Amino acid sequence: MALKIRVERRGRIYKVSINDPKPVVVFPFEGEEVSSDNLFLMSFSEDAEGIEVSIPLGVDTHILGLGEKAFEIDRKRIRVVMRNTNAGGYTWFSDPLYVSIPFFIRIDRDILGYFFNSPSRLVFDIGVSRYDRILVRIPEREAEIFVFQGDSVEEILEHYTMLTGRPFMPPEWALGYQISRYSYYPQDVVVDVVERHIKSGIPVSAVYLDIDYMSKYRIFTWDEERFPSPKDMIEKLHSLGVKVITIVDPYIRVDQEYPLFAEGLGKYIENPDGTIYIGTGWPGLCTLPDFLNSKARDWWASLVRRWVRVYGVDGIWLDMNEPSQPGKKIELEAIHRLDDGRKVPHERVHNAYALYEAMATKGEVDFVLSRAGYSGIQRYSAIWTGDNTTSWEDLTLQIALVLGLSISGVPFVGCDIGGFDGRIKNDYQLLYRYYQIALFFPLFRSHKSKQGSDQEIYQLPSYWKEKIRSAIMLRYKFLPYLYSLAREAHEKGHPIVRPLAYHYYKDENAYKINDEYMVGDRILYAPQINREGRRLIYLPEGIWLGWWDNKEYRGMQWIESDEEFPIFIRRDSIVPTSHCGKIVFHIYGDKGSITLGDGTSVEYIDNELRLSRNMDYDVVKRPHEFEKPCPETLE
Ligand code: NOJ
Repeated sequence: MALKIRVERRGRIYKVSINDPKPVVVFPFEGEEVSSDNLFLMSFSEDAEGIEVSIPLGVDTHILGLGEKAFEIDRKRIRVVMRNTNAGGYTWFSDPLYVSIPFFIRIDRDILGYFFNSPSRLVFDIGVSRYDRILVRIPEREAEIFVFQGDSVEEILEHYTMLTGRPFMPPEWALGYQISRYSYYPQDVVVDVVERHIKSGIPVSAVYLDIDYMSKYRIFTWDEERFPSPKDMIEKLHSLGVKVITIVDPYIRVDQEYPLFAEGLGKYIENPDGTIYIGTGWPGLCTLPDFLNSKARDWWASLVRRWVRVYGVDGIWLDMNEPSQPGKKIELEAIHRLDDGRKVPHERVHNAYALYEAMATKGEVDFVLSRAGYSGIQRYSAIWTGDNTTSWEDLTLQIALVLGLSISGVPFVGCDIGGFDGRIKNDYQLLYRYYQIALFFPLFRSHKSKQGSDQEIYQLPSYWKEKIRSAIMLRYKFLPYLYSLAREAHEKGHPIVRPLAYHYYKDENAYKINDEYMVGDRILYAPQINREGRRLIYLPEGIWLGWWDNKEYRGMQWIESDEEFPIFIRRDSIVPTSHCGKIVFHIYGDKGSITLGDGTSVEYIDNELRLSRNMDYDVVKRPHEFEKPCPETLE
């Protein structure tokens, strides 16, 4: 039977509907119907398993996007699956991981973005089964596909985030140094760990509490022996300037004695016969809220609200929300009730579970960190790359994952610094390298498994303690710039860190660079990733200033560097930094402009710096001036 195709258009966004789809995740779109010949190179076929979309892949075609994929930035010759998975122990080329973003950007003569809006198991085959085709398998007889036209990669991302939602604006503290461990407890130890950092001169913006704070893993409870007075502990941490983020899993213990379980009746995932779906998780037998349903979301929001109001918690950490447990059974049996009355099998909504959980959570709290996600997650939550493993190989993998998410509309991303699984085995240089690669990652958090080695900085050998401290201080120096990029992300949907190909998509070399990144459009960073601490760096088109050596470099060339932090500023930019407790604008070139995180606009033109409001600041004109050391008392 012929497929029924309908195309609608709004500006440069097109919606292609096949066989009257009723998508699970609804992204509002009001378009005008246009000819169904507007298919943007797509052709379709249908068989018993669903629909296959085919798009040409030329020798010169480049593909960016697809979210958290453990592959090189140019997504060619890969076959990947969209299926949120608890992927602990993953390495380069493991697939799938935790997050599914079925969106890519195809760069050829034209630049087009394609978004396949389905949270079920999609398969993207980019030139593997057929050398010259991109094949996307949708296991349904209907499909909703959005196509974005743009004159640049950036424009595509603007359209994509216009449709799926602009990223949330993080509080400023969320860009600082965050510490975590599976698990810090009891409560005095939590305070002690934080105080030891501070005494060692290491700023801490937030501390995370992992699952051991709960009583028998029952969510929204405290273990009263370990945490006899959580409110006092949180107040104490706040007085030290440190925020508190608690973990929450989606499992709810099935237990008549547990008031929360009884409260949630009617809001859980069900079996086909209407009984509550029961599986196993941390708390033993448990069920899960049906986040696809707004009644369940409202209930969950009320739990978060109570938790935040009563204890003063500042952020919520959503884990295991692929959902990863209880068991595989869920995929075969569970049923969700959508708001429109439809009952759909878990299989069809799986990848969207975390999205709706984050949506329900974010309304009640300033900051949410999630492990799983789907397109749209950027509106509610930051993402970290799950359970990575301490290794030299993992360093480049983390850069690729963070950049893959960033270029797929999810700007607030980071990894477990130090690697979650695995011990450091005296290789403190490797630990230091984690801090080096993550210098500008929007989420800058150290985290470690139970059986991993301690990596709190205060207890490291003094040589490495100093080195890592210097990395953290450098991070803090650039906080005003990162905060201004967070605002840009929020307002325009631009990523904070970017693969070189984001800006330099006309440069073939840029597609091959997986271990350098742009920070906004003004800084290029090429972290040291090997033991020698020496590397080749590709500088794209333009003129670049070495942050440390104050030398000007011509672009489109390779240079070698053994700087600890190879940072380059693009000519004609302003980079706001913090120095001696003051904001300092580094101005390089004849012109530049930037909007700070608080909305102040700053412009440099005709040798004059103009600000939209009064503030105390200094200016350093590079390369002729360099910032002066701080007076003794300040750092
Ligand atoms: C798995 C998470 O990925 C990890 O970060 C966390 O520490 C453990 N679950 C325990 O909650």
